[in-house]
Amino acid sequence: MSSYKYPFNKVINREGTNAMSVTGYRGYLFDPDEDLSGKYKEENFIPMWVADMEFAIAPEIIDAMKKRLEHPLLGYSMVADPGYSLAFQKWCTDRYGWKPDIKHLVHAKGVIPALYSLIGHICKPDEKVLIVTPSYAFFKHGADFNGVELVCSDLIEVQGTYCMDMDDVREKASDEKCVLGIFCNPHNPTGRVWSEKELQELGEVCLENDVTIISDEIHCDVLRHNTSFTPMAGLFPNSDQIITCMAPSKTFNLAGNLFANIIIPNDELRKTYSENYLPVENPLSIVAAQAAYTDGHAWLNELTDYLDANFKYLKAQLDAHLPHTKFVISESTYLAWVNVSHYFPTDENLTLFFARNAGVLLEGGDMFVANASGHIRLNLACPRVRLEEGLHRVITAILEK
Ligand SMILES: Cc1ncc(COP(=O)(O)O)c(C=O)c1O
Repeated sequence: MSSYKYPFNKVINREGTNAMSVTGYRGYLFDPDEDLSGKYKEENFIPMWVADMEFAIAPEIIDAMKKRLEHPLLGYSMVADPGYSLAFQKWCTDRYGWKPDIKHLVHAKGVIPALYSLIGHICKPDEKVLIVTPSYAFFKHGADFNGVELVCSDLIEVQGTYCMDMDDVREKASDEKCVLGIFCNPHNPTGRVWSEKELQELGEVCLENDVTIISDEIHCDVLRHNTSFTPMAGLFPNSDQIITCMAPSKTFNLAGNLFANIIIPNDELRKTYSENYLPVENPLSIVAAQAAYTDGHAWLNELTDYLDANFKYLKAQLDAHLPHTKFVISESTYLAWVNVSHYFPTDENLTLFFARNAGVLLEGGDMFVANASGHIRLNLACPRVRLEEGLHRVITAILEK
């Protein structure tokens, strides 16, 4: 693992940087005063939970941010120069053959804030939002925040691979109160990259039933080698009912920069969104994102190699030591979705179990809305030595039960 140009093997101490991964788990993963005492002291916990990476960002991005700091003003800024939008458009065109119309591009301080606001603009209080489960929990939080009902369609799992239950989705979408579907592609937590055929069918079902689609594609750039991604909106060029959310945050480890791309083709909705959004962006975030989309290909390519290898390592370790786990290397994301149900009673709080018994911070199935018991989500975006130690602890904790 030493032939990398970029330092993916380097362990970086995040103490003192206000990083959520090491300081924010109380309150998010547990009750704030939860007793986490167990085999490891908290200062030795290994964070494998929140979806950011333990890798240094690309030097191309750091250089762009440093260069921007040579100009001594950081006043109110906005995406005014078309350079950024064109770089983002080129990224999508080159990688996915989809050329978003930059007139439709607006921004957000993150995909989560955009979801919260879009749900409110699209749904009336008695209307419903459809998601597939297991799900990234903020889809549910966004519906709850806006006081609208959430409708869940469970994914079907066959030997570790997930697919949508299209009959169930069709039935739920045909409820006239169901006006919005929020779908994650690639899917967090399972890592599925929905195929063109699946997306076509899903899109047709929603559009036939006047269900607006938010396609959260925040994970779309982090693919295993030999996997390809199709933006949902690209399949329906004549529809203005598909909103696309993309960002450099997951791909380039820039989540703290609070900057996301939201493509809203419907003029009225885009106007409503924009009237309710203060388009002031952090000037460093804009240059970082532009540098990422312009000069980030080589770094991302190497990240892909590194993650592919981490996934293979995980698979080999599970096969060797925990043969009753069910795990399939995902097509995307740096998140591994592992079925450990053989080893635990169904009501076990897995997040708590692994904190206490392995000193590993991870997310158990109950954090993913529904249809997820007996699973853990492990973040593999870390140097191999860190993965080895974290995994060793997870395996030992299960075997010593
Ligand atoms: C599917 C999905 N959407 C959105 C987010 C968060 O987006 P942001 O940080 O841009 O608000 C995450 C983070 O894990 C995610 O997995």
